[in-house]
Amino acid sequence: MMNKNFLEGKVALVTGAGSGFGREMAIAYASKGASLVLNDINLESIEKTREIILNKYNVDILLAQADISDVNQVKEMRKEVFEKFDNVFILVNNAGVRVGTFSLVAKEEDYDKVMDVNVKGAWNVTKSFYRKMSKQDFKPIAGKIINIASCAGTECGANPYIGIYSVSKAALISFTKLWALELGATNITVNGICPGLFLTPMYKGNPEFIREFMKKRNVKLPLDRIGEPRQVADVALFLASPASDYITGQNMILDGGMTISVNTL
Ligand SMILES: NC(=O)c1ccc[n+]([C@@H]2O[C@H](COP(=O)([O-])OP(=O)(O)OC[C@H]3O[C@@H](n4cnc5c(N)ncnc54)[C@H](O)[C@@H]3O)[C@@H](O)[C@H]2O)c1
Repeated sequence: MMNKNFLEGKVALVTGAGSGFGREMAIAYASKGASLVLNDINLESIEKTREIILNKYNVDILLAQADISDVNQVKEMRKEVFEKFDNVFILVNNAGVRVGTFSLVAKEEDYDKVMDVNVKGAWNVTKSFYRKMSKQDFKPIAGKIINIASCAGTECGANPYIGIYSVSKAALISFTKLWALELGATNITVNGICPGLFLTPMYKGNPEFIREFMKKRNVKLPLDRIGEPRQVADVALFLASPASDYITGQNMILDGGMTISVNTL
């Protein structure tokens, strides 16, 4: 039986915590007693997340405004985090940006932006935090890294309408496996979540954007409904819990069955 507050005494750092999945995951971790580091490039958005959480839970929160694609800002964030807290048990690489064009007509600046945030950003943050995480005295697992990738990065979900984004998420899926191999010996688990179609500000909170996209790609969801951010947070909670201690290097697809249905260009 799992302790109700199984994250008490543990810190969860969530990048992109000012919106969508990031906010929902931060709320979920707070509900289990975690202290939080809320990162986002946008300060107001994490102030709002903090307000929502403190209305309901009495947890310690550090706001860490930083652009994760900038290594110097990430190093500064690490300094602030370890001045305040003595651990980061959960690191969620969630912040991401999406540009919607075919890869071969994408502009160079869009390519750079997407790769800089979605791939280099996650690499910057993981690189800055893993050493300290590996030396933490939690047993049997010293720390847990969770990458929020996407179905668009999976073999069956490759999506030409968001070509560069698809490539960036395939890279993040690959990092999940590589980091699991590199960090296994230090008792850090690394897993990924690959959401399908979820109503978040990334889709302007408007289901029409998702329906239009599904029509364009002839996507049929076996579970005929759009996902809710809370469902991603539930899996992120499972991956942060002792129930997942023996799982590493896995990318979990959460898509209502989208990637097992037939997609066409
Ligand atoms: N919404 C979906 O259907 C969906 C599906 C699959 C994967 N995802 C992935 O889930 C993650 C979260 O998506 P969401 O839908 O909640 O998006 P969102 O746009 O609502 O939230 C992303 C957050 O990341 C922040 N951010 C952007 N660039 C940043 C940077 N350089 N440094 C720090 N923070 C930055 C934004 O300010 C924003 O608050 C993303 O990685 C996204 O690619 C989303």
